[in-house]
Amino acid sequence: MSNSTAKLIVAIDGPSASGKSTVSREAAKKLKVMYVDSGALYRGATWKAVREGVDVKNAEAVIDLMNNTNWEFFIEDLVLKFTIDNEDPTDHLRSEPVRERVADIAVIPEVRVFMVERLRETAEFGDLVMEGRDIGSVVFPDATFKYYLDADPEERARRRAKELQETEGKGDVEQVLTSLKRRDTIDSTRKTAPLQIPLGAQVVNTTGMTIDEVVDRIVDEVNAYRAQA
Ligand code: DC
Repeated sequence: MSNSTAKLIVAIDGPSASGKSTVSREAAKKLKVMYVDSGALYRGATWKAVREGVDVKNAEAVIDLMNNTNWEFFIEDLVLKFTIDNEDPTDHLRSEPVRERVADIAVIPEVRVFMVERLRETAEFGDLVMEGRDIGSVVFPDATFKYYLDADPEERARRRAKELQETEGKGDVEQVLTSLKRRDTIDSTRKTAPLQIPLGAQVVNTTGMTIDEVVDRIVDEVNAYRAQA
């Protein structure tokens, strides 16, 4: 392809703890393009619901809340950030109340429409790497590159437990495995935009790979494309 004015969009999808967050952030840094964590938007909506005492299983109340919130987007060090009603939720996005409820928010079709619109708008800021569950399938089906990162559930649980141990001082692999499997089931069986391998995506099983190996593979492919675009 030689359309040099088209935006470069690298879509990276996959289940929780497949390595996609670290890989996406690092790949964006090396490519010097914006990094967008789409899950952060779903987590932000969940944080807002918890804060306002809205039951996340009450779709109508959640939709009403969404329609009455003001989201502002900005870029900080090439990372997409946002405020909801002038508050930055970043520090709360990985908290337990959010973690336990976010999959329920993400099944609400109207919430997904809202997020997909916001996520598409972020391309106005420039070239980007975006990670999520439906980026290559729904948000940017015409993305320049599409990857689907996966790893065995036990390996994903080990990685997430290690992360939790580092950030919260506790992380039990068995418990994490149960919670991951529950989230996987909700994410992959929901009616709207279930987690799936996007058409045309390259599937990368990261189980036996280091983060650097996965990042380098993506960065090398994108740079090769840029060199001939
Ligand atoms: O990637 P993450 O763990 O931050 O995602 C949090 C939740 O949001 C998870 O349950 C899946 C959902 N999600 C989604 O449905 N679609 C996206 N594009 C990103 C996240």
